[in-house]
Amino acid sequence: MTDISKAGTFKLGDRTVKRLGYGAMQLAGPGVFGPPKDRAAAIAVLREAIALGVNHIDTSDYYGPFVTNEIIREALHPYPDDLVIVTKIGAKRGEDASWQKANSPDELRSAVHDNLKRLGLEAMDVVNFRAMFGHLGPAEGSIAEFVGVLADLKREGLVRHIGVSSVTPTQVAEARAITQIACVQNMYNLAHRGDDAMVDDLAKAGIAYTPFFPLGGFSPLQSETLTAVATRLGATPMQTAQAWLLQRSSNILLIPGTSSVAHLRENLAAAELVLPADAVAELDGVAG
Ligand SMILES: NC(=O)c1ccc[n+]([C@@H]2O[C@H](COP(=O)([O-])OP(=O)(O)OC[C@H]3O[C@@H](n4cnc5c(N)ncnc54)[C@H](OP(=O)(O)O)[C@@H]3O)[C@@H](O)[C@H]2O)c1
Repeated sequence: MTDISKAGTFKLGDRTVKRLGYGAMQLAGPGVFGPPKDRAAAIAVLREAIALGVNHIDTSDYYGPFVTNEIIREALHPYPDDLVIVTKIGAKRGEDASWQKANSPDELRSAVHDNLKRLGLEAMDVVNFRAMFGHLGPAEGSIAEFVGVLADLKREGLVRHIGVSSVTPTQVAEARAITQIACVQNMYNLAHRGDDAMVDDLAKAGIAYTPFFPLGGFSPLQSETLTAVATRLGATPMQTAQAWLLQRSSNILLIPGTSSVAHLRENLAAAELVLPADAVAELDGVAG
């Protein structure tokens, strides 16, 4: 059985999590909308993640909407003591499955209460404010008002730690001037390295960086170099892409998403894959 603790741990606020976690977005239906094709399979994925030692799960009440949180509760409640569930707020889904802003103070407050209710928790360990200025990438604009609402919810005891998502370095600095920031969640992977400098700056500050789309997201990574390096190491491309992220910086926490137990096992086995320096150098060239 894989020993995922081999990938090490990092602090998320005052909690310590293993660097290999799980992202629950793939448990909803197609397009992250509606129920999954096979609910029992979704529950099995979550239970297997916990059985293999995962103690960091990423979710949102707007996945489905509501679907992934309901499945997490059904599969795992009462939760193991060491499990850290991270959610995000700031968006909602339209009836046409569109992704829309939901960042008025009332919407942000309701979103935290909805996550707590659906997950069966009294306080959220970590809530990310998900900026919606750009689509998948960040765009400038003040997030002070939104982070301020989360800081109020933290003072009220409903949120233990605050993170920000889909943000620029200016927005991270703005948030850090308002409250303590536990993590940043932006798009980043072997082929998409716009946040290289941010990863390093956050590492110096002891702040976790949780890349979303670590495997490329809706279009999983495809690269001849990645396949060649993986084959040479006797690993799969997805394991190799995750090992590269783990070696890239010690503050990177992985939340690969999958709806399949087989892929989950494959992904978590990346904890034991050590990339030699020449492999890292080759993979560093993938982003161009
Ligand atoms: N903050 C944000 O705005 C934001 C945005 C997107 C996602 N997220 C979070 O980040 C997490 C990770 O992102 P993600 O799930 O979208 O993308 P991802 O982890 O990069 O990739 C998931 C995709 O890769 C496939 N996959 C997973 N393991 C595989 C394997 N071993 N071999 C082949 N294919 C594999 C999955 O399909 P199968 O189901 O078939 O395995 C799925 O299509 C999400 O779960 C979510 O919690 C946050």
